[in-house]
Amino acid sequence: MAQLAEQPAATPPRIGKQGDPCVMVIFGAAGDLTGRMLIPALHNLARADLLPKEFAVLGVARAQMSNEEFRKRIFDDVKEYCGDCIDASLWEGFASRFYYFAGDFNDDKLYPQIKDRLAQIDRDHSTHQNVFYYLATAPSFFGIIVEKLAATGLMEQKNGHWRRVIIEKPFGHDLESAKILNQQLLKVADEKQIYRIDHYLGKETVQNIMAFRFANGIFEPIWNRRYIDHVQISVAETVGVEGRGSYFDHAGSLRDMVPNHIMQLISLTAMEPPISFDANAVRDEQAKILHAIQPISDEEVLSRTVRGQYGNGTEDGQQVSAYRSESDVPPDSRTETFVAMKLLIDNWRWNDVPFYLRTGKRMPVRNTHIMIQFRQAPFVLFRDTQVEHLMPNQLVLHIQPEEGISLQFAAKVPGPVMRLGTVDMNFEYQEYFGKQASTGYERLLHDCMIGDQTLFQRADMVEAGWSVVSPLLDIWKALPPRNFPNYASGTWGPKEADELMERDGRRWRNFEK
Ligand code: BG6
Repeated sequence: MAQLAEQPAATPPRIGKQGDPCVMVIFGAAGDLTGRMLIPALHNLARADLLPKEFAVLGVARAQMSNEEFRKRIFDDVKEYCGDCIDASLWEGFASRFYYFAGDFNDDKLYPQIKDRLAQIDRDHSTHQNVFYYLATAPSFFGIIVEKLAATGLMEQKNGHWRRVIIEKPFGHDLESAKILNQQLLKVADEKQIYRIDHYLGKETVQNIMAFRFANGIFEPIWNRRYIDHVQISVAETVGVEGRGSYFDHAGSLRDMVPNHIMQLISLTAMEPPISFDANAVRDEQAKILHAIQPISDEEVLSRTVRGQYGNGTEDGQQVSAYRSESDVPPDSRTETFVAMKLLIDNWRWNDVPFYLRTGKRMPVRNTHIMIQFRQAPFVLFRDTQVEHLMPNQLVLHIQPEEGISLQFAAKVPGPVMRLGTVDMNFEYQEYFGKQASTGYERLLHDCMIGDQTLFQRADMVEAGWSVVSPLLDIWKALPPRNFPNYASGTWGPKEADELMERDGRRWRNFEK
């Protein structure tokens, strides 16, 4: 075992209850997601005293490895991804609960062996036979693994113990395949056993949308068509496809970001207050919004949506190459790396309030935010006033990398004459709450251990998300783009995205570094 440095940051006090006694079985335990997210998240949970005492992990993957080698590997993972946050006082106890078993997920013989292993671990760690399976595998394995687990009796819940399975997007590649996957899962498991992760819901700032809207009396009364002019949701990334060309070229930005992450942001922003924080109460309201999004007609796909692909350009002062030169991307690829669109929500609260969405790779800055623009005040009083850059009130929920909320409003510029300027009122998470060690998976893993599905996607929500983008997928496929690449790396996407807004007399709010 490698040597640990002297102890870093103080262990935070536990807030919340510990997870139920259980075993976490990670399929794909030698992969990137496990090392980068899952193990550091478990370690953070252990530091926060939220892991049950009766807890163990069984890693399963193809690579041959002993338990000791697996433990060494997780040490390296935590060290690499969470820097000096390793807690020496709890490391030995933490790592000793990790086991490893090599096998091929397609092999029927693997599952009875897992069953034996789980029985042994249960005896050693008193995990009450509760098990959750994390499928950190290629999506093509989701259905196969769950079916084989069920066939071996490993999904069976009896004598008060539970069995759950966590999967992470992509849930299919269109509406049809999403339905097939849901049917495959629901044939052998109950919806209450399936935890579909959208990692955006693990972000504090995303969870805060509900707190902001529903724990404050002053915003909800103006959160509607009477006061709001439009909403913008931007998810801008500076990265390209980062070695994921073979996946991304089949997906594209629309599938990769919109039916999942961006639909989460829309539904949390637009939903009605739920009657409680019970999982289904919240998810019912989210689902209603997804169903209320006005279907885009074939003609509207051309006028209300924009797609783009990055060409050569400059990112942070460095030359970067076009998408078509990325590895595993064909030189004539027509896959989009940028999407913008205008959606409307057909309900009483949002009728006629456009929601403009935009996401792209190789943008000038990494920035995800939701901007609520309020209706312009009648400036009749200020007709003769010097008005510099006067903007309507904008409330911005900064999701990442800045985390916080800002409100832009007009103020009198000091001086003997009446002049108006635009100022900002800012709340920054870090300033108030300090920096938290978090991968975004802590809350989600813990929720699975306590059986709280609020932040997980239900089958109907996944399908509703795909329904929104289905017409785009069809029309875009029928009419392949002719002008790709159509934006330079390091810019805000194709000019058509600006025109989409300009046609409505609006413009994107772009944040600089
Ligand atoms: C993933 C997408 O789901 O989300 C990636 O597959 C994207 O293409 C990523 O880069 C963005 O996540 P985050 O947390 O960096 O905003």
